[in-house]
Amino acid sequence: MARFIYLDHAATTRVHGEVARAMQGALLETFGNPSSPHSFGLEAERLVRQGREVLARALGSHADEVYFTSGGTEADNLAIRGTLEAKNRKGRHVVASAVEHAAILETLRHLEERGLCEYTLVSPDDTGRISPKAVAGALRDDTVLVTVMLANNEVGAVQPIAELVGLVKGKDPTVYCHTDAVQALGKMSFRVDELGVDLLTISGHKIGGPKGIGGLYCRQDVRLISQITGGGQEDDLRSGTENVPGIVGFARAVTLAMDNMAENIESWRKLQALLLEYLEAIPDAQIHGDPLANAPHIVNVGFGGVRGEVLVHALAQEGLYVSTGAACSSRKHIASHVLKAMEVPKAMADGSIRISLGADTTMEEVEIAADLIRKKVVELRRFQRS
Ligand SMILES: Cc1ncc(COP(=O)(O)O)c(C=O)c1O
Repeated sequence: MARFIYLDHAATTRVHGEVARAMQGALLETFGNPSSPHSFGLEAERLVRQGREVLARALGSHADEVYFTSGGTEADNLAIRGTLEAKNRKGRHVVASAVEHAAILETLRHLEERGLCEYTLVSPDDTGRISPKAVAGALRDDTVLVTVMLANNEVGAVQPIAELVGLVKGKDPTVYCHTDAVQALGKMSFRVDELGVDLLTISGHKIGGPKGIGGLYCRQDVRLISQITGGGQEDDLRSGTENVPGIVGFARAVTLAMDNMAENIESWRKLQALLLEYLEAIPDAQIHGDPLANAPHIVNVGFGGVRGEVLVHALAQEGLYVSTGAACSSRKHIASHVLKAMEVPKAMADGSIRISLGADTTMEEVEIAADLIRKKVVELRRFQRS
């Protein structure tokens, strides 16, 4: 077997060589502070502006609607907290899906505990899909924000955001609609105007970019209250000296992801189909969600009679890296709230792993991985029975 096979790209990706080289220039040469009036500053400012333009092109927005943040988590926080503060005269009710990332769910829980918001979670069907009607039905007079992710990070379920936004805005045009598109960027084509959202979150490190950089699309006429105050960068919405190397790397990663997206999707779909064929042949295996309608890079599978975290460790010992679910909850061994919301029986949810493909994953790697998973599942079952 190759030295290792990494199939945990939904957790993070290796920085692309071209991205690293572009960042090196910004670290060693164009190192100015974009706010400085001299040439080093102006050069750094130019890089930030170019980065913003690249992101805007990828999202179908204007450059001045893209705000850089330290990642997806901060962008999600800004969308929620910034909306609640901006709209506090209307109310403090938020509607979210029950399958959101912790950056959304934990933020809502934290704010609710402090009396700063109330929220309603909408459950998915057994494929992980959220009903737009159910979301619109959860609106109250005091609802200020709806947040439903575009592609789920655990099972890959893709949500019907355009339809959902249409229904929500039809009922109450003043409600802001946010979508977390961290797992969708570079994995499926979308444009903010077609989705109709007011706010959209992206992150660099899931697409071959660096960690610690992300962004929030915020439509021109949408007003948020800044959550980080200081020097007034990012049009006063997010203060702090810009992460110029991060922005340069993010922009290069987005360019590569967009240029290669059609080819990547075609390759992921083939690899996904192969993986499904192998996994479905394992006795008492259950594929979660509807993979062919899902994001092309994620497969989530459960095995009866096996514990997911034990399987993940056993595979890692052989050099195959997958996860039990979201990276942040797997370390804490927290049961998957996504599988629970999809009403996957607990024993099956506990025996689940997430396999996520990257831009350079090969057919051979998938074949070796599937074979190893089958062997380890059989071995662990035998061991647990004896
Ligand atoms: C759907 C989703 N949202 C938000 C995040 C958080 O992004 P970041 O790691 O850039 O803070 C992640 C990353 O795990 C994610 O998968």
